[in-house]
Amino acid sequence: MIKFGTVGTGWITESFIQAAKLSAQLQLVGVYSRTEDKAKQLANTYQAPQYFTDLSEMAKCPEIEAVYIASPNSVHFEQTLVFLKNKKHVICEKPIFSNLAELEEAYRVAEENGVYLFEAIRNVHTPNFQILKERLHIAGPLRSAVLPYIQYSSRYDLFLQGEEPNIFSAKYSGGALVDLGVYPLYLAVGLFGEPNTVFYHPVILRSGVDGSGTLVLKYDHFVCTILCSKTSHSELPCEIHGEKGTFILEDAAPISEIKLVDSHSKETQILSVEQEEQNMVYECRNIAKIIETGNVPEYEKYKKWSIIVLRITEEARKQNNIIFETEK
Ligand SMILES: NC(=O)c1ccc[n+]([C@@H]2O[C@H](COP(=O)([O-])OP(=O)(O)OC[C@H]3O[C@@H](n4cnc5c(N)ncnc54)[C@H](OP(=O)(O)O)[C@@H]3O)[C@@H](O)[C@H]2O)c1
Repeated sequence: MIKFGTVGTGWITESFIQAAKLSAQLQLVGVYSRTEDKAKQLANTYQAPQYFTDLSEMAKCPEIEAVYIASPNSVHFEQTLVFLKNKKHVICEKPIFSNLAELEEAYRVAEENGVYLFEAIRNVHTPNFQILKERLHIAGPLRSAVLPYIQYSSRYDLFLQGEEPNIFSAKYSGGALVDLGVYPLYLAVGLFGEPNTVFYHPVILRSGVDGSGTLVLKYDHFVCTILCSKTSHSELPCEIHGEKGTFILEDAAPISEIKLVDSHSKETQILSVEQEEQNMVYECRNIAKIIETGNVPEYEKYKKWSIIVLRITEEARKQNNIIFETEK
């Protein structure tokens, strides 16, 4: 059992705590908030024995072995470093950091301190991702894929009223691609590897970040198109087109259902299994297992995917002059 603490008090932190409990491999021992009342309340709700309002104090706590960070994107890096330097493993929410330089520095510090650093991304840890990866060859040579993640954000209403919620802000390293696009992008990188070229066509908001966009990943004889948006709604599934068959995924995350349609007979089979409703449980289990067993090849696999994903989003931003405040 790995003893962990949390940073941030949004709904996603509660979701992670519930998933961690379900995994039976991570035990909550402390929570952090910038506000004492919020820290106390979260600690009470989930019976955490300790709460903190000072990050450095939490990082020095001997009972804590790992930390889950779910703060705004732009503060992930500085908070992660505090814990890594105190020899705590870090599980940091997606998008892990603002740019590749930060990611490389954080991996260096993690290695120096003999701890692991993970990006919390739920879909590539699920059983259905594993099934898809193992069965991908059935579709024959792949020619195209369309992977949407289009979800109207309630925070867009606030943005339209003149506010600037963190997720639509360059100050907090927001935008549709890094927020939602990373799910289909992780699918693409996990299934097809690193593309040869990347083109991003965003719709830029008044805050300077993308509210939506189309990312085109070009591989040898295969093109993958990722659609992401926080300003509209879609019910499009994901599709991966091979010469022999087409995979239809109900969603990019958590990959609830996978169908395979034969190109000739149009016969359809269901390949997926029923997943846990609290689907963050799979990332909790995989990450805890890597930390406990010290499975370096598995760790290196996720590390490589994080690097490729961040390299792509950084290149996509560069093409469109989307500059985060931390980079100015
Ligand atoms: N995996 C998923 O499905 C999923 C879903 C949603 C979000 N996320 C990720 O989780 C992270 C948090 O998202 P969110 O929407 O919860 O963000 P948020 O509401 O902007 O902030 C989350 C928490 O961080 C703290 N915080 C807020 N502003 C801060 C600041 N300027 N400096 C330091 N801490 C600050 C707050 O906690 P205190 O006031 O208690 O300190 C707040 O509850 C993001 O990286 C996001 O991409 C992942």
